[in-house]
Amino acid sequence: MKIEVLLTETEICQEFSEALEARDLPEKFFYWSPLSVDAWLAVSRDVAYESHLHSWNLLVGDIEKIAGRYESAVAVVSLGAGDGGKDVLLLKALDKASLDVEYFPVDASQALLELACAAAEDAEIDTLGMKADISSPMHLLLASDASEQPKLFLLTGSTLGGLDPLDQVRHIAHCMHEKDCLIVDAEIQDGSALPSRDNPPGRRFAFSPLASLGLTREDGDVRFELKRDDRHEGLHLITRHFHAARDLNIAAPQREIMLQRGERVSLNFNYTYSPDAFRWLLTTHGRLQILEEVSSPDGRFMTALCSR
Ligand SMILES: C[S@@+](CC[C@H](N)C(=O)[O-])C[C@H]1O[C@@H](n2cnc3c(N)ncnc32)[C@H](O)[C@@H]1O
Repeated sequence: MKIEVLLTETEICQEFSEALEARDLPEKFFYWSPLSVDAWLAVSRDVAYESHLHSWNLLVGDIEKIAGRYESAVAVVSLGAGDGGKDVLLLKALDKASLDVEYFPVDASQALLELACAAAEDAEIDTLGMKADISSPMHLLLASDASEQPKLFLLTGSTLGGLDPLDQVRHIAHCMHEKDCLIVDAEIQDGSALPSRDNPPGRRFAFSPLASLGLTREDGDVRFELKRDDRHEGLHLITRHFHAARDLNIAAPQREIMLQRGERVSLNFNYTYSPDAFRWLLTTHGRLQILEEVSSPDGRFMTALCSR
């Protein structure tokens, strides 16, 4: 298994402690510790995630629409690849469509990256994992330089929604060349977005970075909220906060952090969109062209194939 490291464990440790000190833990720390990885895999295999997989299968089932854009070879660069389970379905379909396929899963989580590399290697696909921060424009540029072949970038499983989507779409568009495509998905804002997260597996996932530091439910609780992002009509987000129920002295890597009773720590968030806001984000804001759109049968997810 080959993994190139642009983001080291020491850097992640340091960033984690700084983020906790600032009372604001971003998305990448929710897949880092063994407890978090375990909690995420449970979420991704939960019934609430099935609609996601359904829309992915629809896309992969119509592989010619994607494969037909490449001549003989494609380098698949999966940004936030997770365990690579969904990616491998696509890789196998591209391979079957007679393309030479190379795979570059990119993720900050060493454990998930190893799973993605192993899954692709089992399918006999040439693979190089990249441990990197996909919110860093520099790391994105380095990842997009991984191969000379035309690229298919993937940003799926609502990964865009865990980052600032306005910044992220522009950074990715900047890395794309004329023959490259991007597959990106979004969760549509409807009544099911909050209940699909505010449930036992979703709460365990949200609490997992703090549980990894030894905190228990007696130390505080996680609260979910639905908000709007006023930068554009139709942009919504589900936020999560930890509320300390008592004074806490947390042993974080390299430092101790005091949280007073009643203090809040912002946890990760997920953007959800109206269909028009998602189209606006990709086209007007990101200056990409939408070539195909696939909606899940229940309308909860929208996946777009884009080019520059
Ligand atoms: C919601 S999961 C989606 C995984 C996969 N693409 C899927 O469809 O199931 C988000 C993935 O992005 C990774 N991730 C989140 N923020 C990241 C960051 N800033 N840099 C690198 N990876 C990140 C996480 O480790 C996780 O594997």
